[in-house]
Amino acid sequence: NLEQTLRPQSFATYIGQNKIKEALQVYIAAAKQRQESLDHVLLYGPPGLGKTTMASVIANEMGVKLRVTSGPAIEKSGDLAALLNELAPGDLLFIDEIHRLPKVVEEMLYSAMEDFYIDIVVGQGPGSHPVHFSLPPFTLIGATTRAGLLDAPFRNRFGIVEHMQYYATEELERIVRRSAQIFNIKITLDSAHEIALRSRGTPRIANRLLKRIRDFAQVQHKQEIDVASVRQALTALGVDPAGLDRTDLHLLETMIDLYHGGPVGLNTLAANLGEETETITEMVEPYLLQTGYLKRTPRGRMVTEKGFRHLGRKPPTATE
Ligand code: ADE
Repeated sequence: NLEQTLRPQSFATYIGQNKIKEALQVYIAAAKQRQESLDHVLLYGPPGLGKTTMASVIANEMGVKLRVTSGPAIEKSGDLAALLNELAPGDLLFIDEIHRLPKVVEEMLYSAMEDFYIDIVVGQGPGSHPVHFSLPPFTLIGATTRAGLLDAPFRNRFGIVEHMQYYATEELERIVRRSAQIFNIKITLDSAHEIALRSRGTPRIANRLLKRIRDFAQVQHKQEIDVASVRQALTALGVDPAGLDRTDLHLLETMIDLYHGGPVGLNTLAANLGEETETITEMVEPYLLQTGYLKRTPRGRMVTEKGFRHLGRKPPTATE
């Protein structure tokens, strides 16, 4: 499908995350030379930056198979045992949202990662006993939003830990142009630039915006996506000129309207917004913090002067 073809298959076609690519290319080449499985990899960073894509590129470059699952999907140790049982030597197991694995499953992974075996308890009551299963050498790739969401004993079992960063405008521009080519649509350089500026540093968002802009251009019988169609579509989608979406703006406005910009505690803010605290800390806040619309203080989150000005509000005068 189209979604699939948008994903690069190799390091050569993967745009951005250059430091991670360079490091991984060394580790992959070395593992291949030694004919060993790649060490376990932990990828962390905000959603939509290409963690799953990176895992599939690693599999392609290693020349092995990739099995994809997620923390919440593995409910019992038996689920994990079944997954591990299907792996061939050197294969990759990708676990998205790995911080949401049940504790028993996480603990079973310790021996699997370190010494490639698991002990499964069979039977019940006095007759129950552990059975030892050897596993082929394999590579676990875990993905999470923040490395700190994993307990240290788990985190320390990953030999390779990489932080996925927000993409630069120029990188997003190249991604948009590549995607447009795959969609078989023409796009001006200005338009690709405009989309890149308004994608929160995130390829998933850039590609989603491109698809909607393409819809607008198509029904208007435009031969090419121009800046006018980009602006029209983004206004309709509620994406503002700085690329903040409705959720971002709602958060900043709520903090200003109800708390004069803060400080506000996370739980209070989540309750006011009707969002999970995790949605705020893992999905909404990171970009607002990185771009300086929001800051964290010991007493809670605060809208910055830049945040006030962006919304056309007057920042409170400093009192200290
Ligand atoms: N499409 C989505 N993410 C991409 C990336 N990092 N490089 C190339 N194409 C992409």
